[in-house]
Amino acid sequence: MRFNPALATLPTYPTVALDRVRDRLRAEGRPVYDFGTGDPTEPTPAFIRDAMCASVPDNCRYPTVVGEPAVREAFAGYAQRRLGVTLDPATQILPTSGSKEAVFHLPLLVIDPSAPDRGVVFPDPGYSVYYRGTVLAGGEPIPQRLSGDFVQRVWELPEAVLQRTRMVWINTPHNPCGAVMTEADLRRTWEVCRAHDILLVSDECYMDTWFDVPPPSILQVASEGVLAMFSLSKRSGMTGYRAGIVAGDPVVMKKLRELRANPGLAPQDFVNTAAAAAWSEDSHADARRHIFAAKRKVLTDFLAEAGVEVVASEASFYLWVRAPGGLSGLAYAEKLLEAGILTYPGASFAVTDAGDAFVRLALVPDVETCRAAVAAWRAIL
Ligand SMILES: Cc1ncc(COP(=O)(O)O)c(C=O)c1O
Repeated sequence: MRFNPALATLPTYPTVALDRVRDRLRAEGRPVYDFGTGDPTEPTPAFIRDAMCASVPDNCRYPTVVGEPAVREAFAGYAQRRLGVTLDPATQILPTSGSKEAVFHLPLLVIDPSAPDRGVVFPDPGYSVYYRGTVLAGGEPIPQRLSGDFVQRVWELPEAVLQRTRMVWINTPHNPCGAVMTEADLRRTWEVCRAHDILLVSDECYMDTWFDVPPPSILQVASEGVLAMFSLSKRSGMTGYRAGIVAGDPVVMKKLRELRANPGLAPQDFVNTAAAAAWSEDSHADARRHIFAAKRKVLTDFLAEAGVEVVASEASFYLWVRAPGGLSGLAYAEKLLEAGILTYPGASFAVTDAGDAFVRLALVPDVETCRAAVAAWRAIL
């Protein structure tokens, strides 16, 4: 059988390779400190689970792309409280089955695979679905190589690149580096995109995972030509529910509703009910942020003492660590594995060589396990 040749060009999805190593170590009976996949282990708050269970009906009918108003109204309430932004739940908000599927499908909204201007710019290193969704939609992937402070500066792209770009991804706070764009950065990015009629999409799924000051959102800066993605995965510990939101320019959102009706991309109504409960409540998200901060402190205190550099990591669920002693990220990840510490080599987030010298840690294990991991790490310094 002949398959889509684009599939063969995509590297093995990083979590697949990582999970294999983790499973092998566990089978060998070795302790594994799993800082690999960004899937938090803290329980989903009971009020969210209860909201979902109570809303599973006797007869569960097809959900709709727009979902019941409650989830959109709840997100509008969150946007008002957290960002001071007023959104119309009827025209500016859609629920998604986690943000991953929405990230993946979005290039289909603007990319004409036969046109010369079918570029999609995304941060590199970055969340690999920007690249994968672009390739499978027939777009031209344009990785913007990050370095230094790992802030993406779209206004530095050459004019020729902007001319053939239809869509720009930004991600703030950023995975894997944790860099945060300032309001001025966001405004400059938006101005460049508007000047070139480029759809600007800001992936803000770590908007509530911050440690010092809450990061700004693109929605606080502009609406025209803009979409923003949000997620309950880390904010509310709901990775398995698949609950995200896309919000923004009503003109773009109208087209997106049309697009999403084709495959029927619609979260289940009972997931939307759980999501409505989660977006309506902030104290659980604050509590989770404090837990992530405590884990982060255990690790960053140790790394500072050990002289291992953490780069850019202002917010998000991750630490971006430069491999010491001139090692590559891959070599250092292998060395850490000897101590049972599972990290992602930075290269697995990048199309270019931008991640080669780094490893990423996801703040997954609990505080006690972070302490045990630090002891194991210290032993191999
Ligand atoms: C930058 C980024 N965007 C999107 C996602 C997808 O999140 P969700 O769990 O909502 O699908 C992730 C998940 O790790 C991510 O890191």
